[in-house]
Amino acid sequence: MEAHMNARAMGMCPIPPSRSAATPRLHLHHLLLLLALASDMEDAHHHHWTMVERRGTQLWASGRPFIIHGFNTYWLMSFAADQATRLRVTAAIAEAGLNVCCTWAFSDGGYRALQTAPFHYDEDVFRALDFVVSEARRHNMRLILSLYYGGKAQCVRWGKEAGLDLTSEDDFFSDPTIKSYYKAFVEAVVTRINTVMNETYKDDPTILAWELINEPRCPSDPSGDTLQAWIEEMASYVKSIDPVHLLEIGIEGFYGPSIPELLPVNPDEYSGHAGTDFIRNHQAPGIDLASIHVYSDIWLPHSIKENHLQFVDKWMQQHIDDAANLLGMPIVVGEFGVSVKDGKFGNEFCEDFMKTIYRIFLSSWKEGVIGGGCLLWQLFPEGAEHMDDGYAVIFAKSPSTLSLLANHLRCLEC
Ligand SMILES: *[C@@H]1O[C@H](CO)[C@@H](O)[C@H](O)[C@H]1NC(C)=O
Repeated sequence: MEAHMNARAMGMCPIPPSRSAATPRLHLHHLLLLLALASDMEDAHHHHWTMVERRGTQLWASGRPFIIHGFNTYWLMSFAADQATRLRVTAAIAEAGLNVCCTWAFSDGGYRALQTAPFHYDEDVFRALDFVVSEARRHNMRLILSLYYGGKAQCVRWGKEAGLDLTSEDDFFSDPTIKSYYKAFVEAVVTRINTVMNETYKDDPTILAWELINEPRCPSDPSGDTLQAWIEEMASYVKSIDPVHLLEIGIEGFYGPSIPELLPVNPDEYSGHAGTDFIRNHQAPGIDLASIHVYSDIWLPHSIKENHLQFVDKWMQQHIDDAANLLGMPIVVGEFGVSVKDGKFGNEFCEDFMKTIYRIFLSSWKEGVIGGGCLLWQLFPEGAEHMDDGYAVIFAKSPSTLSLLANHLRCLEC
């Protein structure tokens, strides 16, 4: 136990020195092989591809604990919709070798949109999503599919065009017509029959979970009641058509008015008034997984680096404790990363940040407190650099980050 603690304090997992000493010399393809183990572990011993399920605060698949070691690449569907970029999708999935990818199952009203207007879907783009799901399956990778985005703008624009009296984007959460757009879209995705695999999405174990909406906020109602009502309605709607798959919300994790003592854990005063509420939102019936994001670079714009890591430590630890003790569900650190765009942070800090996240999750998991896992924002193959928002780790250009990811995998296995 003591050795274990020491190793942890140093940010390393307890593995024999010979193996850890070899890490920096590993070549890329060795790393990829190691990473590939993450997704193959499951299949090496079991021949069928079964659903990931929740047991208390843990995730399980094929009779053993399942830990998410994943990443985000949001543009897979849109790249798959175009023959010229489709190969990048396969590269993103195959080269990552991690076991879960979170990606967007929505796009509305723009170039090559899945949803072209309320209740209207572009079959070619739907086929592109089918391709993404089938490529994930082929590479033993699970998907978390996000069903909408917190921007909400396009739905509200459509509502106005249809003559609805809408005053703000937050009407997305309360207007009955807009809610009917969202529900119809969700039904179209969840009941979609995959044209590549001839399997209905709602029956497909490739999908680990649905995410209701990515980073919703509803600042027009800081009490949280409006967003809470929407989450309850939509969670029960999704479960009514797909009772099997796991469901998460997609919130950033800010504490809200339901437990005022926890408000100081938030990065700032504003985030407690964003209309979201980590504890109460996750108590909505039908929600299976607690989800949080970690963006200290955005949330603490004026802090020095040391403060960021302290914040990350406390933010992670509190949410893990609450997921375990108050909510009784696994936690998914659905997005975390650091932007290097404005030059404030460099690669070394990004890696310290990632190590902090992995170390805290890992120690709680090893102690049996929590299950779930972490998904880096974001991981790219070469040839997609123009989609980089400053956070992308490009496989071929980031050997030390890949080695860090491989090390986390070894830690999960030992
Ligand atoms: C698709 O699956 C259904 C039932 O699972 C089956 O009846 C049908 O023949 C299949 N279609 C094709 C094209 O394989």
